[in-house]
Amino acid sequence: MEADFIKMETGYVPVEAKITKITQPTEYEKVFTLDFPHKEHLKFLPCQFVMVSIFGFGEAPISICSSPDDEEFQLCVRKVGSLTNKMHSLKVGDFIGIRGPYGNGFPVEVLEGKDLLFTAGGLGLAPLRSLIRYVLQNREKFGDFTLLYGARSPHDRLFADEISEWETSEFVDFHETVDIGEENWMGNVGLITSLFPMIGIDPEKTIGVIVGPPIMYQFVVREMLKKEITDKNIFMSLERRMRCGLGKCGHCQMNGVYVCQEGPVFNYVDVQAIQEAI
Ligand SMILES: Cc1cc2nc3c(=O)[nH]c(=O)nc-3n(C[C@H](O)[C@H](O)[C@H](O)COP(=O)(O)OP(=O)(O)OC[C@H]3O[C@@H](n4cnc5c(N)ncnc54)[C@H](O)[C@@H]3O)c2cc1C
Ligand code: FES
Repeated sequence: MEADFIKMETGYVPVEAKITKITQPTEYEKVFTLDFPHKEHLKFLPCQFVMVSIFGFGEAPISICSSPDDEEFQLCVRKVGSLTNKMHSLKVGDFIGIRGPYGNGFPVEVLEGKDLLFTAGGLGLAPLRSLIRYVLQNREKFGDFTLLYGARSPHDRLFADEISEWETSEFVDFHETVDIGEENWMGNVGLITSLFPMIGIDPEKTIGVIVGPPIMYQFVVREMLKKEITDKNIFMSLERRMRCGLGKCGHCQMNGVYVCQEGPVFNYVDVQAIQEAI
């Protein structure tokens, strides 16, 4: 009975979640830590999303950026429009509406026992962080782990504290770059594809994962294919305009595929089939 009540609450009707912490990694992004009325609301898969709402300002899909194994539930929100601007004005102790989690999330069992090559561009690091943290928290289940991250500039880098840990960690081979450098930036400058010559992988055992802006996908897929990772071993998270988040309104539909339900995570073989049919 309790479980049914929670499912109904999180399906169509938002629950009120309290903001318990806010950090601001960049000029345009804030990370909100939320507390829920029931622990069940914290169950999700990496790369699932929730619908966030504030009365009078609308509703928007936002990916969960914490790991299912974390104590904290977090969302990283870029200020772009009505809902997200309002959210950036909120304070610790304020409440927001949350429905979900929605979407298929990442099939973590497919990754187990495999080598991993993750690529994150820009805000794509937010949803991928959920999976990155999950892999690091369950490190014994996975093979070699390579992580590539590209940001527009040093000021746009998200989760800088964690990046510092990844840089020196023996558990992940981390490489990053920025599109445009600055005077004090000592790291790589160039597009994320410029990092591929620096890495070595075993294509037989490697799963590639891509999360980033739409323009990045075709170029990163090309690099992964050059490294001889097969189509079926490449996964990506696609973003579409969404309204309901649960397969009712059709706003997210691409040639009969409801991205809010069958995605946002797709295998590259499926992405090609959807694109060919459009
Ligand atoms: C699965 C998924 C996960 C996401 N995860 C995140 C996340 O983790 N963090 C994050 O910050 N964002 C995320 N987004 C993006 C976020 O949902 C959008 O940026 C959302 O529009 C923000 O809502 P808003 O009310 O603030 O902006 P809006 O007021 O909706 O405006 C957003 C921008 O879109 C334009 N726009 C609005 N409506 C339309 C329209 N009908 N056609 C064309 N352009 C339009 C506006 O001019 C503006 O530039 C995700 C989106 C999806 C689908
Ligand atoms: S967002 Fe309504 S059907 Fe997908």
